[in-house]
This record gives sequence, structure tokens and C-alpha cells, in this order.
Amino acid sequence: MNKASNIHVEPLVFPESSGIDFGASVSNVDIEHLSDADFAAIREALFTHQVLVFKNQSHMTPKAQYELTHRFDPAAASKYGHGDTATGHKRSILHPDLRTIPHQPQVQVIGHGRVDEYEGLRELRLRHPHHRTFHATAVPDHEDRDFTRFYRWHIDAALYGADLAPPVVTTLLAVKVPGGGRRQTCRYEDGSGDELDVPLGTTAFVSGEAMYDALSEADQAFARTTRVEYAPHPYVWMSAARSRADGLGLVSEGRELGPADLPAPVDADSVQILPMCWRNPVTGRLALQVHPSAVRRLHLDGDSDGTVVIDELERVRDIVHRLQRPGIAPRRVYAHDWREGDLVLFHNRGVLHSVVGAFAEDEVRLFRQCNIAASHFPEGPSAEQAQVAA
Ligand SMILES: [Fe+2]
Repeated sequence: MNKASNIHVEPLVFPESSGIDFGASVSNVDIEHLSDADFAAIREALFTHQVLVFKNQSHMTPKAQYELTHRFDPAAASKYGHGDTATGHKRSILHPDLRTIPHQPQVQVIGHGRVDEYEGLRELRLRHPHHRTFHATAVPDHEDRDFTRFYRWHIDAALYGADLAPPVVTTLLAVKVPGGGRRQTCRYEDGSGDELDVPLGTTAFVSGEAMYDALSEADQAFARTTRVEYAPHPYVWMSAARSRADGLGLVSEGRELGPADLPAPVDADSVQILPMCWRNPVTGRLALQVHPSAVRRLHLDGDSDGTVVIDELERVRDIVHRLQRPGIAPRRVYAHDWREGDLVLFHNRGVLHSVVGAFAEDEVRLFRQCNIAASHFPEGPSAEQAQVAA
């Protein structure tokens, strides 16, 4: 019989003005030797709190990180969440930001600056993604030290391929973090005047569940009954396109690559059409869960007439942006203040996240990231939840 777990789970505490209703810290845990009861407690906590923070985990090996990540979905093949081709193609927007650990290929190294040697990787030249490489407009150079943007709100997922279901969880370990406690102001620049004070190089999280809850009843019904079709080879397809200033999807300028410029002919069976709302397997809550940059078409439940497909890209993006934007309001964003040794687990099917910030040349940062393509696709609303729409 399993011993009960001694793990402590404490919800994160935010100021009263905050609208953040997720996140917890986990302590009294030995990641390298988790009993079944320990893991069950962590799993329950992840689906309940969406983002879990473990302090002082610098000693965790890449193997232990992989094993923890895999334990959330033991039936999953041990493939990195994007497979090999999505990140390996030279035009993919994900390609420059990731280096694979040779002895643990599901674990990636990301960061900024020069690192001589790490886990068998030599002469690393890492680059923290900068919004100027992705956004249609950018913070002027003279303000770059103090002001920044959300780089790209997203779910970690290949979104193409019949065997590449969106990972359940992503694990992130902060190996090296620049000292100094520098902060920046993240601007939305979407006409709202919104901005957010953030620690340098934060990872920003918002809850897809809170995003869904914030919708009007009519929009909730729309979200429950709509399915989202993603572009084939989405990260190559969008490689010449540019982002909105708030990092929440792309502007429509006709820059997306055509079929002839994609890495391989489009395989209809690989196209992913997923529910707009994903159901939490423990709490049953629905999350408005859309990758706003990769979205291509919407399939609406057209009552007796069958499905209505919205194909016009600009309209598709406008609909998704209107639904998602309230969910990234400053008071709803958890901007994690990374310290060396922080291990963060996030429920990739219940939150959106974004890289934020711009490092100076000499500010070195090193992180390890792991996620695994899931064994199953996310579930949409239950029959009971769907019925509320009727
Ligand atoms: Fe990510």
C-alpha cells in the first residue's frame, strides 16, 4: 500500500486587486524519488491550479525532468511535443530558439547569451526571442531596455500531425538567471493603454479557464460549439507573417506561405481540427484554448444546416482575438519572477503562456524545457456542458 504523500501545495497569493485565480507552490518534495502518492498529489494539483512552482530544483537531472513530464501521460510515445519536423525545418519560427540535449532528446535548452558547455552541448549561443523579429511594429531601440511586449501567446503544440496531440504538461527549469532584479514595462499597444510591470525575462501565464469564464453567455455558447482548424505546418506557414502588438495572434497581410512553400504536401489526415474549449480532466472546467497565431479556419455548429466554415483568415483572427483579449488583461496575467532552481510545471491544455522581455548581450540565461506529444487529443465540452448551449 502506498504511503500518503507529505507534499505541501499552497495557492499563490496575489494582491487583492489581482484577478489571477490560478497557480500554486509545491514544497516538501523530492522530484528524483516520487512515490505514486506524491505523483498523484502533484497531478491533482496541476489540474487544479494550472501552474505549479517548485523552488530549489537545480539538482534535477534532464532524465528526471523527462520522467516527471512523461508520468503525466505514460501512454505517450517519448516524442518531443513538436515532433522532429516542426522545429527542424529551417523556416520554422521555432527552430532558432531551441537546442536539444543529446542524451535526453525530449529536453530542450533555451535561453540567452553564450554558454561554453552544458549537458554535452558546447559553445552555445542562445537567443531569447525578441518581439522585433516577430511583431509588425516594435518598441523603439532607445526604449528597449525599459519597455517590452508579450512575444507570442501560445500553447506548446505542433498542431499538425495525427500523432502529435498537444502536450498535457510542460516543465521548465531555470538553470541560470541573470541577477540584478531588473524589471521592464510590458506594453499592449493595442489602443487600450494597458501595460504591466514585469520581472526581466518573465514567462507570462493566463488561465484559459478564466478566459472562458469571462465570456458573455452567448460567446460561451459559441466557444462550446465551435471547432478550430489549424494551418498545416503552422510554424513554417506563419514564418513570414507578423504579430499583433499584444502578441495575441497575427495581423492579416497575406504573408502566410502557400502550399508550395511548405516542407511537404499537405496531408489532410494531419490537419488538426480541435474543440475551441478543452475540458479539464480533474475539475471538468472548460478552458478557451486556442493557439491564436496558428488558427486557420473556424467550424461553427450550424444547427440543422450542418457545419458552417469561416475561411476568411482576417475574420477568423478577429473573432478569436475578440474572445481571447479580455483574458490577457493585466490583472489576469501571472508573470513568474524566475529564480535559479525554479521548476515550473504548467497545464498546457489549460493556460496560454508567452515569453516576455529583452535581455542585454551580457545577461545570460539558461533554461531547460520538456513536453511530450500526448497520447490523446484534448476533450471538448461534455454532453451535459454542450447541452447548456441548446
Ligand atoms: Fe512555450
